[in-house]
Amino acid sequence: MRGLVAGAWREFLAFSPGPANDVRLFFAPGRVNIIGEHIDYNGGRVFPAALTLGNYLLVRPRADGLARFASTGFPGRPTAPVSGLRFDAADGFANYPKGVLWALRERGVGFAGADFLFAGDLPDGAGLSSSASVQLATAVAVNALSGAGLAPLDLVLACQRAENEFVGVRSGIMDQYAVGMGRAGFAMLLDTATLVGEYVPLDLGERRLVVVNTNVRRELADSRYNERRAECEQALARLRAVRPDVRQLAQLSVAQWDKLQAVVDEPSLRRRARHVITENARVADAVEALRAGRMEQFGSLLNASHDSLRRDYEVTGPQLDALVDAMQRAPGCLGARMTGAGFGGCAVAVVDSAAMADFTAQVQAAYERAVGHCATFYKSGVGGGARELDAREAAFADA
Ligand code: GLA
Repeated sequence: MRGLVAGAWREFLAFSPGPANDVRLFFAPGRVNIIGEHIDYNGGRVFPAALTLGNYLLVRPRADGLARFASTGFPGRPTAPVSGLRFDAADGFANYPKGVLWALRERGVGFAGADFLFAGDLPDGAGLSSSASVQLATAVAVNALSGAGLAPLDLVLACQRAENEFVGVRSGIMDQYAVGMGRAGFAMLLDTATLVGEYVPLDLGERRLVVVNTNVRRELADSRYNERRAECEQALARLRAVRPDVRQLAQLSVAQWDKLQAVVDEPSLRRRARHVITENARVADAVEALRAGRMEQFGSLLNASHDSLRRDYEVTGPQLDALVDAMQRAPGCLGARMTGAGFGGCAVAVVDSAAMADFTAQVQAAYERAVGHCATFYKSGVGGGARELDAREAAFADA
């Protein structure tokens, strides 16, 4: 963290010259979803955790109504007036913080502008919620600078609105929630129908969570994501023709679905719905297994989740399948699956700590043989949610 923040501090002072005392430092993590994929927009329960990898944000307030954006990872220094913000493809990464400013203003937050510089150690477009991390860092910063005093869940909802309405991806609430509400050492069991969350100790004993990147960017992920969401709505409409009381797919148990499934007459829609309903059941089983220390069962449920995402939801693709296959076969692996939206990006596994070196070597070799390029293994703990840090950290790191 120190090197990253020190570099960002120097870059920030060049981008936004002025007294160091005015500069504030924020952090928002990425997240890994352990199980419960593509069900947060169907009223299901999901089980993500915040990472220790994430985005640092340096901010200096302005009084002239302008927001200026910079990133150590992306080119461009877009500037926008805080009133009248609009999505502009040419602004690239800055559309995420711009969307958050827009959503917070819509919620009545008065904000006079600022210089923002982002610096992260989270891979972009890899399914670890780098965009939600940028969003929540911005939201926490604007909340602090403006004195608006919004509760963390309000910031989470504003960020989801920014993603849905400003950026145009109809994402669920999971990413923003995990990034905003994370707690070190805990995963979150979030009921997306009620927004009631519960912290569950991520007690893996002699095992570790391992996050690995296919190094395949999520091609057309946004449009395919929206397509899956529309398919779920179509499946739900078929079900509601006979069961108007069903408001969201994940409301149905597997037994109820078994009786009703024939009314979803289109085979691909039936598969989409089946994924949602069985995945929701797997989340409940996985959390119960984790709490009871039944780690073999926990691992099998991760494997079953991947299988369902591959066959029924069709969001994996050859590289993710090759990586997960390599992980599942490697020494010490209890279970592995894709994580996030899919179509490329990352996979997560639970692995015996003692077998880590063999696991890594074998997965790397098998993956490279199958797809012709390397995978990247991340070292990340399970950390806390978006928050302000002491900016003197950054200044001292520079000294
Ligand atoms: C993306 C979305 C989330 C969720 C996952 C899939 O990360 O932002 O809301 O739907 O995909 O589980």
